[in-house]
Amino acid sequence: MSETNTPEAPLRCDDSRLAAALQYVLDNSGKQLRARLVMTTYRMLCDGVEDAADSAATAIEWLHTYSLVHDDLPAMDNDDLRRGKPTVHTVYDEATAILIGDGLQAAAFALISEDARLSSDTRLKLIALISNAVGFRGMVGGQALDMAAEGQASSFDQLRLIHEQKTGALIRAAVLSGAICANATEDDMQRLDPFARTIGLAFQVADDILDVTQNSSTLGKTAGKDVAVEKSTYVRCLGLEGARDEADKLLADALACLSPYGERAQPLQDLAVAMVRREH
Ligand code: IPE
Ligand code: IPE
Ligand code: MG
Ligand code: MG
Ligand code: MG
Repeated sequence: MSETNTPEAPLRCDDSRLAAALQYVLDNSGKQLRARLVMTTYRMLCDGVEDAADSAATAIEWLHTYSLVHDDLPAMDNDDLRRGKPTVHTVYDEATAILIGDGLQAAAFALISEDARLSSDTRLKLIALISNAVGFRGMVGGQALDMAAEGQASSFDQLRLIHEQKTGALIRAAVLSGAICANATEDDMQRLDPFARTIGLAFQVADDILDVTQNSSTLGKTAGKDVAVEKSTYVRCLGLEGARDEADKLLADALACLSPYGERAQPLQDLAVAMVRREH
C-alpha cells in the first residue's frame, strides 16, 4: 500500500459524473469550523507546528461534508440549497449524492490510515475516535433520532441526546483529534473532553437559533426549515430566548473548561465564541 498519499489521492475517481459531482461539492467548502478546531487544539498543545494534524482536519471536514450531502437528500431533510448553491442531488441525482457521501466517508479513513507522518498508534487512535463519532452512537444514530423526533414533543434530555449525537460527536472528535496528533497526555484528554462535548452541543443549539433568526441567503441553506417540518429543536423546546440563554450558558461552561491552559487557550476560546455567536 502506498504511504505517499496526498490529500487528493483517496478522492481519485474514474467515473466522470461522480468526479464532477465530487468537484462540485469540494469547491464549496463551508466555514471549515471542524478543521479549525483540530488545528487550533493541536497548536495550543504543540507550539505551532502544523503538519501532524492536517490529515485529521481534512478527513473530519470530508466526513462532515458527507453528512451534509446525505442530510439534504429527499429521504432525510429534503433540502435544495446548501452553502449558497443547489444541493448535489438536485444538480446531479440522488444516486450520485449517496455515492459522494459514501466515498467521502471511505476517503476520510484512507487519508488518515495512509499518513506516514503519523505513528501507527496515532493513526489507530484517530480512526477509533472518529469512526465512533460518525457511527451508530454518533452522527448516524443522531440523525435517526432527529428524524424520528419530527413532529414529536421531545423532552429536554431527549433533545440534548439528539444534538450531542448528530452534531456534537464529530465536533468533540475534532477537538480530541487535534489533541491526539499533538501526543497529548491523558490529563489533557480528560481536560479537553468536557470542552469538546459542550462546544459541540452549543454549536447545534446555535444552528437551531439561526434557522429562525436568519434568512436563506445569509445562511446559504433554507431558513425556517425546522419549523416547517416540526423538527425537535432547542427553539421549539425552550423558545427563542430560552434557546439563546442555553447557548450562552453552554458557551460559558465550555470556555471555563479551558482555564487551565491560561493565555495559550485564547485562540481556541475565540474559535468557540465564533462557533456559537455566528451569523451563518
Ligand atoms: C451545518 O454545519 C450542519 C450542522 C451540523 C448544524 P456548519 O454550519 O459547520 O456547515 P458548513 O460546513 O459551514 O457549511
Ligand atoms: C445536521 O443537522 C446534522 C448533520 C448533518 C449530521 P441539520 O439538519 O440541522 O443541519 P442543517 O441545518 O441542514 O445544516
Ligand atoms: Mg437534519
Ligand atoms: Mg438539515
Ligand atoms: Mg439545522
